[in-house]
Amino acid sequence: MIYPIVVYGDPVLKKRAREIEQGEIDVVQLAADMYETMEQADGIGLAAPQIGKSIRMFVIDAHKLEDPEVNEFKQIFINPEIIEENGDTWAFEEGCLSIPEIREEIYRPEKLRIKYVDENWQPHEETYDGLKARIIQHEYDHIEGILFTDHLSPFKKRLLKGKLQNISKGKVAIHYRIKAPLAR
Ligand code: NI
Repeated sequence: MIYPIVVYGDPVLKKRAREIEQGEIDVVQLAADMYETMEQADGIGLAAPQIGKSIRMFVIDAHKLEDPEVNEFKQIFINPEIIEENGDTWAFEEGCLSIPEIREEIYRPEKLRIKYVDENWQPHEETYDGLKARIIQHEYDHIEGILFTDHLSPFKKRLLKGKLQNISKGKVAIHYRIKAPLAR
């Protein structure tokens, strides 16, 4: 099932998502729906709040990136917790399905350690760096109620204000279905 993607301005994107209890929902089905939704929107990651569900889960499939470092990176993260982030801070131009047509350079630490359970509720604890870490950090932010625009300077954010308002009103020329909070 393909969900409409919730866009900038919807309160669900600003809320810290809650943990999922084992057996509470069919996470295998939900992950399949999230992958399908992400795929048709040409995304590389999708967090549950982006389909209106305020729960701690995100999926990643980076095969659309040509970079051999990440194009086989495909993973479901449930109840993730970033244990630590370290290394040098570096800039990378990020985009987001919930903030279409805007891309900005965002600074984040290069490495992280994360624990989570997978769709079979098996626990994992892993270390990531570079682009993989970057994608995880962006998706993890979503379940914390943080958007990449929250990392921008007030000046930069002011420059984007008009564009962001248009997104909230659904005034964007994109090929996937969205749910815009101020659309009429
Ligand atoms: Ni995003």
